[in-house]
Amino acid sequence: MESIWARGMLVAAAILVIRIQLLAFTGANVIGVNYGLNGDNLPPPEQVIDLYGRCQINFVRLFEPRHEVLEALRGRPQLVSLGTKNEEIQSIASSQQASDEWVKTHVVPFVDNVNIGYITVGNEVIPGTNAQYVGQAINNILNSLNNYGITKQIKVTTVLAGTSLASSYPPSAGAFTNEAAAVLKDIAQNLWHRGFPIMINVYPYFAYASDPSHISLDYALFQSKDPVVRDGPYLYYNLFDAMVDAYYSALEKIDVPNVTLAISESGWPSAGNEPYTSIENAQKYNKNLMDHVLGAKGTPRRPGQTFDTFLFEMFNENQKPAGVEQNFGFFYPNMQPIYPFWPC
Ligand SMILES: *[C@@H]1O[C@H](CO)[C@@H](O)[C@H](O)[C@H]1NC(C)=O
Repeated sequence: MESIWARGMLVAAAILVIRIQLLAFTGANVIGVNYGLNGDNLPPPEQVIDLYGRCQINFVRLFEPRHEVLEALRGRPQLVSLGTKNEEIQSIASSQQASDEWVKTHVVPFVDNVNIGYITVGNEVIPGTNAQYVGQAINNILNSLNNYGITKQIKVTTVLAGTSLASSYPPSAGAFTNEAAAVLKDIAQNLWHRGFPIMINVYPYFAYASDPSHISLDYALFQSKDPVVRDGPYLYYNLFDAMVDAYYSALEKIDVPNVTLAISESGWPSAGNEPYTSIENAQKYNKNLMDHVLGAKGTPRRPGQTFDTFLFEMFNENQKPAGVEQNFGFFYPNMQPIYPFWPC
């Protein structure tokens, strides 16, 4: 018969496991995976959300408020980042009523049992013709959440386009284009005061693949043992940090140094542009990025600062442009992993 002591140890061990899981998945950092729907052979949403659960991927980013996916998320623990369509931003910004309608349609019916943590107003619309509407649309959505008595904190933010930066190298030279700066100053102030991050997409892969004679694979894959870029007092061992810090420099230049960043997309394709793409490179990049984020070391300009990160992406999607764009997935459409990564 097992002793009380042994049982006590079992209970203690079980609690430890639970605590470690909580630390890994509900601590300061969110690690999630983007769920894109540009494929004609993808599994039904219930099976996809089951897969998220089995694989302990506890955070899901949706580009659009697709109701069949939100239905599948009912009663599930996954934290959800929900995007507006870019075409909807102007309307949401145009009146409080239009914004209320959006929230009534896409948030109110789900918020009681879908764990919505973020709403992203616009994906890569700053800079661009819709950029002028983003600030007002964010404010309207926040008012709408309030109008419907939604007390759960939902962070309402936007995802910048890479073209928002006029300059990004070295990181201290990071600066927004005049057009992006014009709209971002107010938006970033607003988000900072509310404690919401701005989201950015960060792809060392594209920087590396466009200039592999100057950028080393080790630097792109978080494998450099020595600093590769020295930028004043800041030493860069990986390209990801350099790319993120270019945004922090740019935010300093528009006088919003303390707003934080979250990573709405980052990843590495497993095929489509050999030799830069490979299963091995994709696996290494994503693994090292995850360790980097969970290690909570921040970046040279923001040591110790944590950031929520959504890896890109769940499935290879056959309706995206041919080549690398179709090959960012962790899983084939039949739900088999492309490489070992998640614990499932
Ligand atoms: C940003 O945060 C730092 C450190 O907390 C603080 O010293 C500084 O005044 C803040 N800057 C602004 C513009 O609020």
